[in-house]
Amino acid sequence: MVTLNSDFQKITKQYLFPLIDEKKAELLGREPDAQLINMGIGDISLPLAPSVVQGLENAAREMGERPFGYGPAEGYAFLRERIVEVEYGAYGIGAEEVFVSEGINSDLCAIEELFDRDQHVAVLDPTYPVYGDISVMAGRHNITKIPCIEEHGFLPQVPKGEKFDLIYLCSPNNPTGVAMTYDNLREWVEFARVNQSVIFFDAAYAGFITSKDVPKSIYEIEGAEEVAIEFRSFSKSAGFTGLRLGYCVVPKKISKSLYDIWVLRQNTKTNGTSYPVQRAGLSALSEQGQKECAEQVRSYQRQGEVIKKSLEELGFTCLGGKDSPYIWWKIPSGNSWDFFDKLLNELKIVAIPGVGFGECGEGFIRLSSFVTEATVEKFKEVICKLK
Ligand code: MLT
Repeated sequence: MVTLNSDFQKITKQYLFPLIDEKKAELLGREPDAQLINMGIGDISLPLAPSVVQGLENAAREMGERPFGYGPAEGYAFLRERIVEVEYGAYGIGAEEVFVSEGINSDLCAIEELFDRDQHVAVLDPTYPVYGDISVMAGRHNITKIPCIEEHGFLPQVPKGEKFDLIYLCSPNNPTGVAMTYDNLREWVEFARVNQSVIFFDAAYAGFITSKDVPKSIYEIEGAEEVAIEFRSFSKSAGFTGLRLGYCVVPKKISKSLYDIWVLRQNTKTNGTSYPVQRAGLSALSEQGQKECAEQVRSYQRQGEVIKKSLEELGFTCLGGKDSPYIWWKIPSGNSWDFFDKLLNELKIVAIPGVGFGECGEGFIRLSSFVTEATVEKFKEVICKLK
């Protein structure tokens, strides 16, 4: 008899983003002409940069000129080498430690397979819901939430008297938009070294960091290559949410056996990412591509500044928005789902309730700055009507 994996049934709530989509669809069912101001899921609102398009076109042409079969499971050397040159040159990471994939979610699900089910996992609260959910789906039962609260500027504090095996960190954190400083991250690396933990460092939003005291990569911290696996994506820094491209760095220094089983896992379970998408990634990392993609990021940052300023002018408190495309808005009263409903129904603003990212997110709303100037103008127009 077929039996389903009961670990999946332990997830009792619907995944956050489809739930938001459902609420949007319900509203549009009631009011088909409603013009939504979409600041919900962090998805791009600009077309691909010209260099990226050129990279895709060239690759498609090449594939039409000669047979092009399977590529290496871990990604083509041209991309792995360029990633190291652009991102990790200063930190002693080798191209053979970079593994290309379709994105961070798949990499996280893949990596956590390498560890025993009974490992003690730490996840931030609030944070990207995937970390906790995939841990539950993988049958893990020992999961501790690390509160990121307002009193500490939403930075995760290293716990005293506790140990974890696997630690999920996200910086800049989604949803708060708060990025870990060198000092804060150094404490976590030290904690992992002392307790022999492994840190999964999600740096999906590294491209948005502008603060001088914030590292873009965990490998900027001395000794991190002995305890940390870093995850990056082209989604937010180069607009690849629809193309799909990311990578993770698995340093050999964590342990030779971890590195080896990761290579074995990848070779067995994946045939890699498509050639045109990897070529597009290479183009995004060319001199010109980097300029074009940085300009797109800058444009999202500008929208973020305006959103934040307009809320502050109305007397609200907001965090984030500086090193991240998310604005973390403290709501005046009530709970974040009720406030979400009010924004949606009365002002047609689609946001994300903070509690969707964990209990410590209650009392906040996340707004995405992956929007156009026109959307921000509409937001400004309606937000002053908030009662
Ligand atoms: C978000 O809105 O938090 C993200 O864009 C969703 C994702 O990256 O999967």
